[in-house]
Formats: sequence, C-alpha cells, structure tokens
Amino acid sequence: MYSIIRFILFLFNPETAHHIAMKSLRLADFFGLLSLIPSPKNGKPRVVFGIEFKNSVGLAAGLDKNAEYIDCLAKLGFGFIEVGTLTPRPQPGNPKPRSFRLTKERGIINRFGFNNIGIDEAILNIQRSKYKGVLGINIGKNFDTPIDEAINDYIICFRKAYNLATYIVINISSPNTKNLRRLQEEDFFESLISSIKEEQIALAKKYNKYVPFLVKVSPDGDVGELDNIIRLLLKYNIDGVIATNTTLARDEVAQSYFKDEAGGLSGEPLRLRALKTQQYIYKGLKGKVPIIGVGGIMEASDGKERINQGAELIQIYSGLIFKGHHLIHDLCEQTRQE
Ligand SMILES: Cc1cc2nc3c(=O)[nH]c(=O)nc-3n(C[C@H](O)[C@H](O)[C@H](O)COP(=O)(O)O)c2cc1C
Repeated sequence: MYSIIRFILFLFNPETAHHIAMKSLRLADFFGLLSLIPSPKNGKPRVVFGIEFKNSVGLAAGLDKNAEYIDCLAKLGFGFIEVGTLTPRPQPGNPKPRSFRLTKERGIINRFGFNNIGIDEAILNIQRSKYKGVLGINIGKNFDTPIDEAINDYIICFRKAYNLATYIVINISSPNTKNLRRLQEEDFFESLISSIKEEQIALAKKYNKYVPFLVKVSPDGDVGELDNIIRLLLKYNIDGVIATNTTLARDEVAQSYFKDEAGGLSGEPLRLRALKTQQYIYKGLKGKVPIIGVGGIMEASDGKERINQGAELIQIYSGLIFKGHHLIHDLCEQTRQE
C-alpha cells in the first residue's frame, strides 16, 4: 500500500509532498482511518532519563517542526515524538527549493534553516493536542542572533518549553544555520550547557518537576571535538545525547545529480557515519549518559544494530519517507524487550 502512496508523493518536490502527506494524514485521522492501524507489539516499556517509553522508536525532529500533527503522528505507532526545531521568534527559513530527494541513494538533502512559527505559537499547538505520550521539544537559535548571544535564545526556549515537554533537545548540530555548529566548540559548548543546566535546576525547583535535556550532535565532528563534548556531558551530568543530525559529507552520494546542493544529508548515505559517531560517543561515555541513535535507520536491522551498539532508543525521519509507517512496526518488533 505504501508503495502506491510513495509513488504518488514522489511525483512532487519533497516540500510539496511533505505538505500533501501531512494534510492527508490529518484527513485520514478525521475519518477515523488512523485508528485502524494496529498498535505495534511493544514489549516491556523502557525507562530512560527517568521517563517511561512505551516503545523505543521515536519520530526525529524536523518532520513536525511546528507541533501541528502530533496526534496523527502518534497514531502511526511511535513510542515518542520530537517536535521542532523551534526558535524564540518565527522565521521563514531559507529560500525554496531547499529540500532534495535522492531516490536511488535513499537520502534527502535539506537546507530548511529552521523555518518555524516560533516557540509561542508552537506551544499553543501542543496545548491544543490530545497527545499524552512522551513529547520531546527541540530548540535552537534564530538565524540572525549572533553566536555570542545564542545562549539567550536557548534559555528563552528552554523556559517556555519546560512545562510542556517530557524532554528538551538542545540542537547545536544543524548545518543550515550559519555558525550554529560552532556551539559544539569547547568554550561555547561549556558555557551553553552549564547555563542550561543551571536553568534546569532552577526550573525543577520552581515547578517541582525535573525535565531532562539532551544535546543533539553532528556526525561531522572530529575526534577532538567529540572528546570535548563527551568530557563536558559527563562533567555537567547531562541527561542524554542524540547521535546524530544530518551530514555535510557527500562521499556516499558522489554520483547523485543533487550532490552539490548545500545542506544536510540524511537517510541511507548517513547511516555509517552516524553509527560511527554513536559508537565513539558510547565508548567515551561508558554507558553513563543514555544515547538516542538516529541517522540512516532505513531497515529494522539498522535499528537493531544501533541498539546493540549502545543506543537506548532510536529515531527515524528519512526511513519513514522511504519505507512508510510499517518501518515503525518492524523496528518495534526488532528492538522489543520482553
Ligand atoms: C527535511 C529534514 C528536516 C530536518 N529538520 C530538523 C530540525 O529542524 N531539527 C533537528 O534537530 N533535526 C532536523 N533534521 C534531522 C533529523 O532529525 C535526523 O537527525 C536526520 O535526518 C537523520 O535521521 P534520518 O537519516 O532518519 O533522516 C531534519 C531532517 C530532514 C530530512
């Protein structure tokens, strides 16, 4: 069935296809069709970062940036949903076209640049949704906020997201916002995570509720950068890490017509790079900080491998586009704990 839907959607450019798919999902939900999808066989719920997950397969950030489709997406069987990246102020993102489908390679190049309605509007969407499951809110900085003032943007979003999120993600690894990845450099990274940690402690006291925060890292960092990240995650007792975001590398798609398009590459061509980054981080963290594995999980066996290599949970984006919601069920089956 999904092969027919995919055939039709792939006739459109990726951004138009995305809008058609999301509107159709909402329509299907309205007519009660999504309730016909059987729930995946979940096995034992997993407790990670002190949170209970009904299964280990989540939706990665970027697909529902504005938190508009949480209810429908949850009915596809995800164990958790991550919305965003959200910034303090709304912003349109980069000019179109800004997303390219590499069909043969099963990859996507995107340079959206955090197009979003801003955290205030997105929060209204979250409040309107009926979803009661695990919700991650992924936050970033506005494109025109200078890098020296970036911490303010994260703190603004962190405060606003705190009461509604089950966990919060600090995104410092998107390649499409100028200088954003500089926040992974030692000095910036230490001031950023220490400030957010302080804020987390203060808010936990104020609301009598602890909301974990995770850092989402790039697959393109060198060993020195990763070592620093590992050291500081341990030093500040950070709750978790998401490995990884998209890559700037093009070695896996050297034959593709779209290889020279600027942006982050996801899907199958990212798989090995994301896996290696996860393995390196896992070794450095010695199991002390839980990892969510993401990047190039296109088959159930890829998900199993990520769990075997140290991830507690996994997320998908490109795999959902190329394989449809059956991938969620296959992954749940393969990563189920009895
Ligand atoms: C079109 C598109 C938009 C994305 N937007 C975001 C985003 O706003 N924030 C973020 O943290 N990651 C974003 N990502 C990265 C994904 O969350 C994920 O880390 C990456 O795509 C690797 O997973 P995949 O290979 O399963 O797609 C985006 C990915 C794609 C393909």
